[in-house]
Amino acid sequence: MRLAVASDHAAIELRQAVVSHLRAHGHTVEERGPDAGTSADYPDLAGAVGCEVASGEVDRGVLICGTGIGMSIAANKVPGIRAALVHDLTTAALAAEHNDANVLCLGGRLLAAPLALACVDMWLHTPFEARHQRRLDGISAIERQVQRGLDPEGSPEPSSHPA
Ligand code: RB5
Repeated sequence: MRLAVASDHAAIELRQAVVSHLRAHGHTVEERGPDAGTSADYPDLAGAVGCEVASGEVDRGVLICGTGIGMSIAANKVPGIRAALVHDLTTAALAAEHNDANVLCLGGRLLAAPLALACVDMWLHTPFEARHQRRLDGISAIERQVQRGLDPEGSPEPSSHPA
């Protein structure tokens, strides 16, 4: 798989560990982010990786900041991105199984490296369950609505499956 992995200054060590781990398992990894002693703003990195994933330049992305919160907020501004902030193996598995997350976000100040690497593996190896597809279609419908221009009088596109 081709992945882009990025962090801001708050998670350089974990970024390097994730990159090494993925390369050791045969993945092609593009690494972005500052070197030790320098800083970078998470929206710049999240936007760059989000656009690479959305365009198909890479298959998936991993974004790491202090908490993972800023990265996830920023990455989800890119149409087509489903970025999931995960904290444990359960959320990592469900991010793949229910949400087909194409970007994984981690908190470098919150997770020890062994758990973070296990979360990455869980996310990569858990298949999406197709029964959740209509919820993803609902997310895409929101994106199309926003791209058309938000109409304060308008309502979201009706779901073809009301239940
Ligand atoms: C940077 O200090 C910090 O705010 C950032 O890494 C992240 O935690 C934001 O959500």
